[in-house]
Amino acid sequence: MALSGVVPQDRGELRIHESLDELSTDLADYIAELSEASVKERGVFSIALSGGSLIGLMGKLCEAPYNRTVDWAKWYIFWADERVVAKNHTDSNYKLAKDGLLSKVPIIPSHVHSINDAVSAEEAASEYEFVIRQLVKTRMVSVSEVSDCPKFDLILLGMGPDGHVASLFPNHAVLNEKSEWVTFITDSPKPPPERITFTLPVINSASNVAVVVAGEAKSEAVHLAIDDVEPDCPKLPAGMVQPMTGKLVWFLDKGAASKLDGNQFYKS
Ligand code: 6PG
Repeated sequence: MALSGVVPQDRGELRIHESLDELSTDLADYIAELSEASVKERGVFSIALSGGSLIGLMGKLCEAPYNRTVDWAKWYIFWADERVVAKNHTDSNYKLAKDGLLSKVPIIPSHVHSINDAVSAEEAASEYEFVIRQLVKTRMVSVSEVSDCPKFDLILLGMGPDGHVASLFPNHAVLNEKSEWVTFITDSPKPPPERITFTLPVINSASNVAVVVAGEAKSEAVHLAIDDVEPDCPKLPAGMVQPMTGKLVWFLDKGAASKLDGNQFYKS
């Protein structure tokens, strides 16, 4: 059973799970509920994915009841970050999601918005931003009331042991990008080096943001991102995820949550 609660400083809801199986079920429920609410309200559901272990943890969506109950035809799919490699390359986040999720449910292919893999990282980022701008114009993606950014119904993020989210790495200049919606890097410390990424203003304009983290190796970064740490501690990218009007939920397993101050929501 999950023990969940709201962490201090309004830093989002914490959902801490005993096992990855429970975490996956809760994540599938959460996504299915947001999809239903958004389709009811807007007629569509705009969702941005990341790479890494997240896609495997979303696997229950391909099973009953979700495979039948979710209104897949209303989904518009994007990537919060993508590696600039061919779509059939093992490093491609598109390929990861296609193989693990998108090919197993009745998503409409023209609703899947992946990057152009035939151009440079810089061009891929600006083309991707252009694509999103067109979809904002037609309101397939909403627009934020408080920034000039798109307001995705849900942005799903993983987190690395260094505290990076999407392709926003610690101490990288890209963390300061305020004017672009999508930007690029060519020096990612996690291979491959060339990536495109949503910027922080876009992530923080979403209606819902979920950060999905498992494993003790990430517990220190979870602590630094969520807990009230010394002000001279450098802020991790994950700690900069603070939706302006949207809702933030952390999905953690007990390993990832093990260094949280007080660990008041999970007692082993
Ligand atoms: C990527 C990701 C990245 C990922 C984290 C966590 O393309 O590399 O989008 O931000 O989500 O590195 O990855 P793991 O869950 O596999 O550790």
